[in-house]
Amino acid sequence: MFDKMKLQMKAGMAFGGAGAGLFAPDRIDEAIALYDEIRNVDPVFKLDSHTWLLTRYDDAKAVLRDTRFSNNDGSDVSDADANQGYHTLTRSMLYLDPPDHTRLRRLVQQAFQPRHINQLEGAIEEAVDGLLDAAVPKGHMDLMAELAHPLPVWVICTMLDVPLEDRDEIQALAVDSALLLDYEFLDEETRERGLKNSLALRAYFDDLIDKRRANLGDDILSGLIAAETDGERLTQDELVSMADLLFVAGHETTVNLIGNGTRAMLDHPGTLERLAAEPDLIPSAVEECLRYTPSVTLNSRIATENLPIADKTVEKGSYIIIPTDAINRDPVRFPDPHRFDIARTDNAQLTFGIGPHICLGAALARLEAKVTWRKLLARVKDIQATGPSPWRPHVSLRGLECLNVSFTAVA
Ligand code: HEM
Repeated sequence: MFDKMKLQMKAGMAFGGAGAGLFAPDRIDEAIALYDEIRNVDPVFKLDSHTWLLTRYDDAKAVLRDTRFSNNDGSDVSDADANQGYHTLTRSMLYLDPPDHTRLRRLVQQAFQPRHINQLEGAIEEAVDGLLDAAVPKGHMDLMAELAHPLPVWVICTMLDVPLEDRDEIQALAVDSALLLDYEFLDEETRERGLKNSLALRAYFDDLIDKRRANLGDDILSGLIAAETDGERLTQDELVSMADLLFVAGHETTVNLIGNGTRAMLDHPGTLERLAAEPDLIPSAVEECLRYTPSVTLNSRIATENLPIADKTVEKGSYIIIPTDAINRDPVRFPDPHRFDIARTDNAQLTFGIGPHICLGAALARLEAKVTWRKLLARVKDIQATGPSPWRPHVSLRGLECLNVSFTAVA
């Protein structure tokens, strides 16, 4: 009992109050230690009167699979911002529950099935080669700016057939829109910028969809415009929200998988050399990077009625926080969870979520990371970090500002 009270105070101070607290990217190690403590003492943890924190893999999995826990998360948004449209993502299928979610997801999921995605491998290889052609002769690069970043942007723009000349501009708008995922942690100025630019991104896709309607191609946007389920078409608002979601969800997450994963391998000497010598380990290395250094750090749900989680009952309206770092390091599911092991087997990490909202782009993200590391390690060796690689000050999407490395070209 005493342990629980002490923990309550400690966690209340760590996660409550102003700012991101222990959710801040420069406090990851502290947060992970606290999740361990919470998991040992009181794993389904009541943070305050309406907020719960989950630390066990199985509890997270059960909640994410149960549609009585809603993903309709506009709860922290002020009325004024909600009236402005809040941000593009809250109107997308990511934040809808069945049956709307099911209808919208059915329309788009075909294009993201692994068998379709794998057909992109050749094009992704060419794109990575192009980026490496520019970087390799120099013997050094900022891996974020010159490799991790441009690839996913190119891929998602190509899939949506976004005109080349617009890509830089809307990419910047998408980065600001994604900031709104940290809505409750933002200062007013950043929040304003995020809102303004998420509306600008929405306006861009509204216009692009109008133009595309008159000139359909074989890209995903055209497919969605033409698609019909049960005699119904997507409304313009639904089309715009889907385009926004695919664009925003489809790039920064993957940029950060490549960046965070490369940094984790650099931080564990010998790992990149082993991967170069044993490229068959690349798929398991991707899973381990997803588990150990996730690029999406928080998931959440809202209880639509009084509901059980393990031996507790959470009240209707409760907000359930599911930190990826907690559930991916549950020792019951992952032996020796704090060890980074690119050969780990049975690694069903939950960084892509699970259940009805499981990441639609998982196969695509995995493919982009695999091709990047395969090509990189085939073309350069002796990769070394040449400076600090600070985290960007974001909470929900975790990634690096820069990752400067030097290397030698493979003869
Ligand atoms: C490493 C890269 C990625 C990570 C870690 C990631 C993570 C996630 C997570 C955790 C969710 C589920 C959220 C929830 O349960 O509420 C999700 C959903 C989603 N992701 Fe990803 N994602 C990644 C890459 C991508 C890519 C490349 C795309 C492609 C366009 C994409 C598109 C989506 C979409 C459309 C959803 C919404 C699915 C739904 O609501 O049914 N993601 N992602």
